[in-house]
Amino acid sequence: MSDSTFHFYEPAKGHGLPHDPFNAMVGPRPIGWISSQSATGVRNLAPYSFFNGFNYTPPIVGFASIGAKDSLNNIRETREFGWNLATRPLAERMNASCAAVPPEVDEFELAGLTPAASRCIAVPRVAESPVSFECKLTQIVQLEDIDGMPVQSWLVMGQVVGVHISRHLLVDGIYDTAAGEPILRGGGSADYFTVTRDNLFKMFRPR
Ligand SMILES: Cc1cc2nc3c(=O)[nH]c(=O)nc-3n(C[C@H](O)[C@H](O)[C@H](O)COP(=O)(O)O)c2cc1C
Repeated sequence: MSDSTFHFYEPAKGHGLPHDPFNAMVGPRPIGWISSQSATGVRNLAPYSFFNGFNYTPPIVGFASIGAKDSLNNIRETREFGWNLATRPLAERMNASCAAVPPEVDEFELAGLTPAASRCIAVPRVAESPVSFECKLTQIVQLEDIDGMPVQSWLVMGQVVGVHISRHLLVDGIYDTAAGEPILRGGGSADYFTVTRDNLFKMFRPR
């Protein structure tokens, strides 16, 4: 029940708002710009903002496919994928790569991007992106609801086995997050955020 201070809702009964705020509240989120390829070698590229890093050693990243999509199917087949940093200069091409096209369409071509050979996996990275990870599949976990019923969403996790960093982002050997101009996904149908140096503040952990 809502009161004057908080709007409360149980998602299963509807949010009662003009737009579902979930995406806007759990945000902004980094974008998993995922490259993959089919067993027959058809390249694929798509953005996934249900994406994050989950472990340091070994480094593990993951994204959620809401519905069984081409990236999930490819990664099931080949057990490899790439992650590419989506930046402000690449935002429109990242967006173009999300088009719902048949699996035989190469989204690198569709979005006007150049595939560059990876070092440890067969899947190419986005040459224009200043940071890419080469990943090998560790787990595909189908999500379940509180009743243990399967949800038609799959969490795809992979171990990072190769990392490419454009040298201009290494300042005295330190990776400069803001210089990479990453874009982050907010809510609604079109909200994104950029990261700039003036957003930075430092806070050290208690000893
Ligand atoms: C910024 C952005 C973030 C997205 N995040 C997700 C996501 O987390 N999960 C998902 O299933 N689809 C997401 N999508 C939609 C997919 O990119 C879209 O369905 C795409 O066609 C899937 O491509 P594929 O079938 O080649 O894998 C997102 C789209 C955009 C533009």
